[in-house]
Amino acid sequence: MSGKPPGNTPTSLWGGRFTGGPAEIMHRINASIDVDRRLYAEDIAGSKAHCAMLVAQNILSPQDGAAIGAGLDQIKSEIDSGRFAFSAEREDIHMNIEGRLAELIGPVAGRLHTARSRNDQVATDFRMWLRSAIDRLDAAMRDLQAALIDRAEAEAATVMPGYTHLQIAQPVTLGHHLLAYVEMLGRDRGRLADGRRRLNESPLGAAALAGTSFPIDRHRTAAALGFDRPAANSLDAVSDRDFAIEFVAAAAIAGTHLSRFAEEVVIWCSGEFGFIALSDAFTTGSSIMPQKRNPDAAELVRAKTGRLNGSVVALLTIMKGLPLAYGKDMQEDKVPVFEAVDALELALAASAGMVRDMRPDRERMHAAAESGFATATDLADWLVRVAGLPFRRAHHATGKIVKRAEELDCSLGMLPLAELQAIEPSITSDVYDLLGADHSVASRTSFGGTAPDRVRAAAQEARKRFLG
Ligand code: ARG
Repeated sequence: MSGKPPGNTPTSLWGGRFTGGPAEIMHRINASIDVDRRLYAEDIAGSKAHCAMLVAQNILSPQDGAAIGAGLDQIKSEIDSGRFAFSAEREDIHMNIEGRLAELIGPVAGRLHTARSRNDQVATDFRMWLRSAIDRLDAAMRDLQAALIDRAEAEAATVMPGYTHLQIAQPVTLGHHLLAYVEMLGRDRGRLADGRRRLNESPLGAAALAGTSFPIDRHRTAAALGFDRPAANSLDAVSDRDFAIEFVAAAAIAGTHLSRFAEEVVIWCSGEFGFIALSDAFTTGSSIMPQKRNPDAAELVRAKTGRLNGSVVALLTIMKGLPLAYGKDMQEDKVPVFEAVDALELALAASAGMVRDMRPDRERMHAAAESGFATATDLADWLVRVAGLPFRRAHHATGKIVKRAEELDCSLGMLPLAELQAIEPSITSDVYDLLGADHSVASRTSFGGTAPDRVRAAAQEARKRFLG
């Protein structure tokens, strides 16, 4: 941070009625430039739209408007190229830009703030910034979906154990498992899109809180800045941050999905599971244990959820109980949103990277699916369907068969027919066909099920729904 140390002279931007200057600590708690400088492009775009509207409405002369527009363009290029000296004394991004404008074009700079307040200005900037961030996040989610769908197609017939309670439950395919995350991401994108629709109303021209007596055209600035319409109520326009809360809530849900996937990556690449391997690109070594290959990227994706959840609590708490309209509390709205966007962007990109990087060990997954009596349900279903047993009796008989296999330390398919018939006489040698994991997954042909053909069709469908 550059800029002069805080003095005790009042600022020229609002200091008319002040004689003393702010205390050093007041400066420090008040300044937000280190955070809100990220809004500079939106702030300048908003100012240019406001300026053009003031000229069109004959509130500002064309000459003054041109001088202001040129000054703003220069400031944009200064900031873009890193030549701009941000100053903490000028508090925030709005006053940094306006202060620099005055240096560049003189007192006419002061006309830009006609019929405007920092309250509608910041609300406008923030909505625009978040709108672009949502668009970037949507693209990142779509990319992760694309990576998952590609992988799902390649692994449509890769058999692995499906789990409940992290205990082997029934065989599934890796493709099916990955497509589950494609659905989650589809809903995450839907939540972001819903929020984006609601946030896309322009606060600009609400002024401090009550509107303005100048004959402004809010529809014009709203359209110029890509908003669907001006916000209907000036008090609401400057005082609500529900759009930010909605966003961080949606981001936290998406982060929760990513954390579950990340956790599975961590488990799958453990030595005990060995279902997948990640390359050097997404792992790190240990400084003391030479054998280690740690899935740090997955662990960090898992942990980013903490920040996302923190953002939800922070924003809700900042806004709770605030009387209308603007309160300086709201200046604290940006950190949680910026942090959430940064964390989610990283987590999405790292997740897509891992999906493209991972090498499944098909044999190991298959062997695991053959263990743990994963086809016990298939046997119980056969007893119902073919032998005509009531499901409860079939379940009970199958339970006894599993117990017997445990005693003999073998899989269900390795039990001799005599052992099976000793427990349930209606069993015939036909059951051996269905005790294999491949047969089991191939039989799960119901809509949304795990049979390889279903998974291939679902992947194609997902391509149309999400990537089309
Ligand atoms: N930096 C402020 C914020 O982010 C801008 C609005 C300040 N408005 C005011 N009345 N002090 O909220």
